[in-house]
Amino acid sequence: MEKILNYIEANKEAHLNELIQYLMIPSVSSESKHNEDTLRCAEWTRDAIKNAGIEKVDIYPTKGHPIVYGEWLEAGNVPTILIYGHYDVQPVDLSKNNWFSDPFDPIIKDNKIFGRGTADDKGQLYTHIKSIQAHMDTNGKLPVNVKILIEGEEECGSNNLDIFIEEHKDMLACDTILISDTEWFADGLPSICYSLRGISYIEVTVTGHNRDLHSGTFGGAIDNPLNVLCSIVDKLKDEYGRIAIPGFYDDVLNLTEEERANFKRLPFDEAEYCKDLGISSTNGEFGYTTLERVWARPSLDLNGIYGGYTGEGAKTVIAPDATAKISMRLVPNQRADDITKKITDYLVKIAPPTVTVEVKPLHGGNPVLSPLDSKGIKAAVVAMEKAFGKAPVFMREGGSIPIVEVFQSVLGAPAVLLGLGLPGDNIHSHNENFDLDNFFGGIKASAIFFDEITRV
Ligand code: BES
Ligand code: MN
Ligand code: MN
Repeated sequence: MEKILNYIEANKEAHLNELIQYLMIPSVSSESKHNEDTLRCAEWTRDAIKNAGIEKVDIYPTKGHPIVYGEWLEAGNVPTILIYGHYDVQPVDLSKNNWFSDPFDPIIKDNKIFGRGTADDKGQLYTHIKSIQAHMDTNGKLPVNVKILIEGEEECGSNNLDIFIEEHKDMLACDTILISDTEWFADGLPSICYSLRGISYIEVTVTGHNRDLHSGTFGGAIDNPLNVLCSIVDKLKDEYGRIAIPGFYDDVLNLTEEERANFKRLPFDEAEYCKDLGISSTNGEFGYTTLERVWARPSLDLNGIYGGYTGEGAKTVIAPDATAKISMRLVPNQRADDITKKITDYLVKIAPPTVTVEVKPLHGGNPVLSPLDSKGIKAAVVAMEKAFGKAPVFMREGGSIPIVEVFQSVLGAPAVLLGLGLPGDNIHSHNENFDLDNFFGGIKASAIFFDEITRV
């Protein structure tokens, strides 16, 4: 191992320069104007895997953005690790002028690299490609069998990956799924995540009359779709912060006292949390702490709402339709399909007969709970401790990686979420960044993980 770790130390600059090239490709999966960039990014990913020493690597087209998949299976009778990551990134919003550098021309500042995709997920996934290369260049082989799948549609719901996994079950068969796409609880506190929330994302449109109407001539005589939308949306939650959709909590797994106690042991500072967000206090479901609310309780949020006149000044108009985008974060053992059906039925039921309600599901993903006693977790604990000099804590995550539950259930292998991000990384926001110690340490952790899992 020492030789491999020395190799990683000696190649820091080269690794960082390659990562910069990777980050310069604006692989924004949700914007069709970036389709060519996204394809170029898939090709770059394929070439990087090949250069690391995995010769068998291909691009698999999908109805959307392609999947990159490679494998090296010559290690013999040792575990097979499936590495997953995503090469696509979130869009950038330059209109607010709050990026201090070009999001697709990364800069280094304060030992961090700034740019779109640095932490989510190019910087994190690249650690595995470099650790593969460190083993290959040093020993000519890997201590484990490795399969690596990097997709290009995570940020828009992984809608084509489900089918791919179903259709390639044998190809993807593995003992452990290794993913770096989550973050640590705090700077300096290595963390392993064992649960992700799921998601059900819908768009609801309320339609009434057939054209814009004068709000004086018609106001009071008809239902205004915009008012109706607000009132049905308001009925989705009660005054105790609970979601009022019938049957919504049926499958929610309650936290055990032990888990609640474990959460309480983590260094969470409510006052700091509020200060950072610029709010006077938190608020949510009655009877739960902030960590419990974001990690282990479901949530429902409006992500956007529009309709009627939103231009400058006043316009006295009653518009014919209004739309809201609503996302719900789900927890074990809720199912995205079931929740999507329940909210659809409820919205249709509570709307007055004067309007029509149309619900369009945008994407969904099931929540994840990974076993804590797997070989992968044991190897990850050792790898984190050796690479970062500190034993990791266990945490959950409020965000989602929709495909993880599909991997676990279809392949029957546990996932290990060896995250490398930090809470200050600003993923999806402006000035996204990735700590360089976590990048270089992550390469080491990955390299140690491959070695360690053959022993635990
Ligand atoms: N890497 C994130 C998931 C994540 C978020 C991990 C926060 C740790 C902290 C992932 O890329 C992501 O953004 N997921 C989306 C999924 C959605 C688009 C279906 C999410 O959670 O919103
Ligand atoms: Mn991600
Ligand atoms: Mn993301």
